[in-house]
Amino acid sequence: MNFNLSKSSKQPTSNTLVVFCSKGKNKANTEGLAKSIKELVNDSYQDKMFQAGVKDVKIFPKIGLEDYENIILVGLGEKKTQNIECIRFASSSLYTELKKYNLSKVDVDLASLQKSSKNLSDSIKAFVEGAVLTDYNFDDYKPKSKDKFSLDYNFVGPAKLKNKSLASALNDAEIMSDCICFARNVADTPGNLMTPEILAKRTQDASKGSKLKVTIWDKARIKKEKMGGLIGVSLGSAAEPKFIIMEYKGAAASKKPVCYVGKGLTFDAGGISLKPPAGMDEMKYDMCGGANVIGTMLAIARLKLKVNAVAYVPATENMPGPMANKPGDILTARNGKQVEVLNTDAEGRLILMDALSYACEKKPAVIFDAATLTGAIIMALGNSYTGVFTRHQSLYTKIQKAADKTCERVWQMPLMKHHTGDMKGTHAELSNMSSTRGAGSSTAAAFLSYFVDEDIPWAHFDIAGTAWKAGNRLNYCPKKGASGAMIRTFVELSKMF
Ligand code: BES
Ligand code: ZN
Ligand code: ZN
Repeated sequence: MNFNLSKSSKQPTSNTLVVFCSKGKNKANTEGLAKSIKELVNDSYQDKMFQAGVKDVKIFPKIGLEDYENIILVGLGEKKTQNIECIRFASSSLYTELKKYNLSKVDVDLASLQKSSKNLSDSIKAFVEGAVLTDYNFDDYKPKSKDKFSLDYNFVGPAKLKNKSLASALNDAEIMSDCICFARNVADTPGNLMTPEILAKRTQDASKGSKLKVTIWDKARIKKEKMGGLIGVSLGSAAEPKFIIMEYKGAAASKKPVCYVGKGLTFDAGGISLKPPAGMDEMKYDMCGGANVIGTMLAIARLKLKVNAVAYVPATENMPGPMANKPGDILTARNGKQVEVLNTDAEGRLILMDALSYACEKKPAVIFDAATLTGAIIMALGNSYTGVFTRHQSLYTKIQKAADKTCERVWQMPLMKHHTGDMKGTHAELSNMSSTRGAGSSTAAAFLSYFVDEDIPWAHFDIAGTAWKAGNRLNYCPKKGASGAMIRTFVELSKMF
């Protein structure tokens, strides 16, 4: 897929022109369009062929207007209620139509995009993201199809619109989308082909050529570092656990880094508390927190942001092998706290406890963790919102602000003193299971809170509902595959500290 923003005002460069329209009061908004296209929009609006709603795409083949053979109208919805997500949606719908009709080269009318949106740089970013993220397809292990569809978008319009900042917005959007696709691909790859070792290697390879420093700890080092949770969870598996560290310095050395922690369960069978077989294959996605944190760091580095950032991804399988943790076993975390493992399927918190303890020792400016931590968050929020837990209300305000900008949906969930009380153990200080029923996502977050110093701002993102199978909500996400949830928001947040 190619995006071209040539300085030249030579037009047309293909036989198809894409034009954007918003919806006004009882009519389409045709501001800034050429007269013949205005007429086309008005007529098709009258005839109810095209209503300019978000995701409405109408192709007029062989119509012959403004030196173009084909005209495509793309709706952006009502201007009043419009946000950047509408452009992502519209671009996704457009891509799907272009692919359907094998239209591989189109001119995209910038003037109409500008008239229909608030900020052209933000709009072009969303357009690019919508297209690239829809083009993503996990087909690495399918027979290669002979006729591969590829698309050239050429942005056309007055030279003055095609300034430097628009060119850099376009470039940034391509980087961001590539990093999201990287995280999706890593997550979609099944457990046998995405072990902790392979995840570490992919992270190292992807970081080459950037300013990222990647360090991988092996099992011996993890043991030496007293990460009893990560070692404990890995015992049932023949695959070695890894602890992945990524560091990026884009600001003064004195500036405290923003820290990301991601759950990297490359496969969660549940351990001895084995999961039921139906849908167990989806537990290859239990490393989406890790994948998305890695994607975030890649984006921060490739965008050359002037920030300092670090990421920690504890990676392991959770299997029921002969040495596996048994219900009742007691593990010792890096910070010395001891935990009885009442259910070996509540393993995410056991590997995160070590990673969070380690992160706190580094005294970062803020910690964000992402984890497919609980089935309960899916009951609470379905697959439209990521649940966010924090003890720092002012931090939530920032998260909401970042998410409003990226249009990723977040919802604050309760994290109360009584939830922390519910995680006290019988034979050890803590238990990995709550002593009460219900509020499973809050008690999981409360468990994590024992491993984060109160004076470090920290927020936990439970992405179990949003990390994959989000396509029914977001047309630019695969129906069944990984979404890359929270990468855009995490990158946005890195700039706020
Ligand atoms: N990885 C799962 C959570 C999960 C389940 C994510 C379904 C996405 C879809 C996690 O390790 C787990 O099994 N959690 C248990 C915790 C319980 C045993 C306290 C759960 O949510 O049932
Ligand atoms: Zn589990
Ligand atoms: Zn899990």
